[in-house]
Amino acid sequence: MSRIVHLNGDWLPETEAKVSVFDRGFLMADGVYEVTSVLDGKLIDFEGHCRRLDRSLQELGMGNPHSDAEWLALHREVVARNEVVEGMVYLQVTRGNPGDRDFVYPPAETPQTVVLFTQSKPGLADNPVARVGWRVISVPDLRWARRDIKTVQLLYPSMAKMAAKAAGVDDSWFVEDGAVTEGTSNNAYIVKNGRIITRQLGNDVLHGITRASVLRFAREAQMEVEERPFTIAEAQGADEAFITSATAFVMPVIEVDGARVGSGTPGPVSARLREIYIDEMRKAAQ
Ligand code: PDD
Repeated sequence: MSRIVHLNGDWLPETEAKVSVFDRGFLMADGVYEVTSVLDGKLIDFEGHCRRLDRSLQELGMGNPHSDAEWLALHREVVARNEVVEGMVYLQVTRGNPGDRDFVYPPAETPQTVVLFTQSKPGLADNPVARVGWRVISVPDLRWARRDIKTVQLLYPSMAKMAAKAAGVDDSWFVEDGAVTEGTSNNAYIVKNGRIITRQLGNDVLHGITRASVLRFAREAQMEVEERPFTIAEAQGADEAFITSATAFVMPVIEVDGARVGSGTPGPVSARLREIYIDEMRKAAQ
């Protein structure tokens, strides 16, 4: 089925949605994005994604082209027009098309480019992979230092995903100064003696929206949470490991750099958190 995408106020068949070659997103990766999951045709954790979009735009000195209510309406419309039941909405805002290539930002009144499209992913919630878990390798974190801004410059994460694929595993975990920062497109966690350990927020990781919700649910369920860096050796000696993201929710990690984590099968803490997250998010979905 050909999708209907949103481009700067228009609803177009995907083959007709065109962006200028001078767009700063294309030339400079000068844009930000959000990925919001859809379950039962409804948006998951939408407010969090809206808040982070606003922050990313602000950090780059860009205005927000829409109010939260307008973003919600656009998200709902793209879901409805494409009849998405399970999947995701991708949203991107760039600094627009100044008409030339220039390192200097264009005037603030230059219209931004706004794109929304969907990807259907039936089986997102009842994902059989979550019953098996992921295997990961570590790679040096060679990304820029403002990973808290959700920009579209994803080349290094993409290279790291390819390194994982070449190694026959599912993902890579980035390591900087001896500690894990995060996964290619997810936040990373270990569990030791019932304690959930994940790197504290800063400029060196994306402030995951799923992370915020999962840690809140964990604390509400009286689980202990410690926000601090951890090493690959600690992960290999942990009882469990997992990652979180808008599209993977909570995904167990069963192997790190060839070493089994715990029993080498998805652990109870990750399984419980996945269940709570999906249940609670379905209830709050808009
Ligand atoms: N990625 N860290 C990085 C580097 C990410 O790219 C993502 C999300 C996360 C998790 O954030 P959230 O829980 O808000 O999805 C952490 C999205 C899913 C992507 O690029 O497709």
